[in-house]
Amino acid sequence: MTRKLEGQITIITGGARGIGRGIAKRLAADGAQVIIWDIRPEYFDSVAAGFEPIDTMAVDVADPESVATAAQTVLTTYGAPSIVVNNAGINGPVVPVTDYDFETWRRVIQVNLDSVFLVSRAFVPAMVEKSYGRIVTVASIAGKEGVPGIAAYASAKAGAIGFTKSLAKELVTSGVTVNAVAPVMVETELLEQMTAEHIAASKAKIPMQRLLGIEELAAVVAFAASPECSCTTGFVFDASGGRATY
Ligand SMILES: NC(=O)c1ccc[n+]([C@@H]2O[C@H](COP(=O)([O-])OP(=O)(O)OC[C@H]3O[C@@H](n4cnc5c(N)ncnc54)[C@H](O)[C@@H]3O)[C@@H](O)[C@H]2O)c1
Repeated sequence: MTRKLEGQITIITGGARGIGRGIAKRLAADGAQVIIWDIRPEYFDSVAAGFEPIDTMAVDVADPESVATAAQTVLTTYGAPSIVVNNAGINGPVVPVTDYDFETWRRVIQVNLDSVFLVSRAFVPAMVEKSYGRIVTVASIAGKEGVPGIAAYASAKAGAIGFTKSLAKELVTSGVTVNAVAPVMVETELLEQMTAEHIAASKAKIPMQRLLGIEELAAVVAFAASPECSCTTGFVFDASGGRATY
């Protein structure tokens, strides 16, 4: 594997476990200097993860103050990041819209969508200043298609896709690219927030008849986060085992 990200300061939100940890491991193997942001940094275990980040910070990406404080620390200590991966997310409960509690709706939108705005906004000026950056957001096939029972999650992910396309257009001549990836289901602790019926229905919709692997998704992100992804911005990369139709 080439170390095409050698020395690049990289923020990965929700990087303490699951998909974020897998992305962090892959980008670190490509040479990136990874900083993990997570609301539960204690989840991170470098032995289990198989790599050492340069820093692990406690951040609630849905909280404007928490993001602003952590971003300032990063900018002061490490300088402008080259890569920001907006990965942190929650599924929320699987219930119909008519039973969806407003507070829960707000939290799902905040963690999955407000966070993408807050974290991107915090680093864009420094990335533009150095005329280079890669922002990659982990969206979901749910944001393209809509899924019954998880309207808040699907709405937030659709919003993250709209945000990606908008910010990409704002930064199109800056050297900073902004892309997203829309995965299908991956076996992580996130599935503990879902019902067995919901998981079965999601699996049944994947034409490859298997779940997506964390390493497979990390490989897509690794390309979108690399210097090679230089003429692609505002795009949503597919990782859906043949499910996506656009
Ligand atoms: N697992 C799937 O099937 C799947 C499919 C499509 C998209 N995704 C997306 O991938 C991303 C990662 O999901 P995962 O499956 O690894 O989930 P996970 O629950 O295993 O890990 C999520 C990580 O995000 C952190 N986190 C949660 N809220 C946070 C907050 N407010 N601030 C900072 N960190 C926070 C958690 O502590 C955890 O470490 C999410 O955005 C999710 O929506 C997952």
